[in-house]
Amino acid sequence: MDQALRQTLTLVARFYDRRKVGAVGPLGFRRSTDLKRLLACLDRLIDEEIIRPNKSAFLDLGCADGRVNLFFSYLVRLSVGIEIDQWTMDEYDPLRRELQDRVVQEDLLPPPSNTFLFHGDSTDQDLHQTIARKTGTGIQSFDLFYTYLVMHEEFAAMLANRARSGAVFMVYGLNRIMPEYPGFRLLRHLSPMEGILALYRKE
Ligand SMILES: C[S@@+](CC[C@H](N)C(=O)[O-])C[C@H]1O[C@@H](n2cnc3c(N)ncnc32)[C@H](O)[C@@H]1O
Repeated sequence: MDQALRQTLTLVARFYDRRKVGAVGPLGFRRSTDLKRLLACLDRLIDEEIIRPNKSAFLDLGCADGRVNLFFSYLVRLSVGIEIDQWTMDEYDPLRRELQDRVVQEDLLPPPSNTFLFHGDSTDQDLHQTIARKTGTGIQSFDLFYTYLVMHEEFAAMLANRARSGAVFMVYGLNRIMPEYPGFRLLRHLSPMEGILALYRKE
């Protein structure tokens, strides 16, 4: 990763990590990924070819304000998110604009325009068809799936049927106990990265 990209992602992580949602209070279902921890995983993810820069297609199942999408958009070809709560997803645009102003001020890299967020249920096959139509990439063509623990078992079951063999399911929010998902193999040599991110390869 070159220096400008690393500096930009450091700024992106700082920007969103200051605005964590649900860490305390009633919005617990909306807890946000700590992007600084994801940043710490990146070199290894690239070395292991889990992320193939500008080639991988990434999908966040339950993307909330799209912060993980925006972060990954710098690294992948396509960054797609699905969120069931429209009001949560509506926070994406204003935050992105504010971030864009910050990166311009600091002479860093603006967010690429490869992020697309969709309102709906991540397991809804009609929505998957809409995504395929609008992005040119169907569920079976994504390389990386991500979720912050919410509905991880249901999402794994859906992906066991629909994702391609070799695709990687990243589950954030785990600790020492890492569940098994039928149809997936835990990448034990990597998991849990930074003590929190488990990776599973579709068989
Ligand atoms: C813990 S938050 C994680 C947000 C973001 N991915 C992150 O890591 O910062 C989980 C989000 O999943 C959404 N969600 C829950 N079930 C869903 C479903 N079936 N389809 C789409 N979104 C869902 C919730 O509304 C919530 O915003």
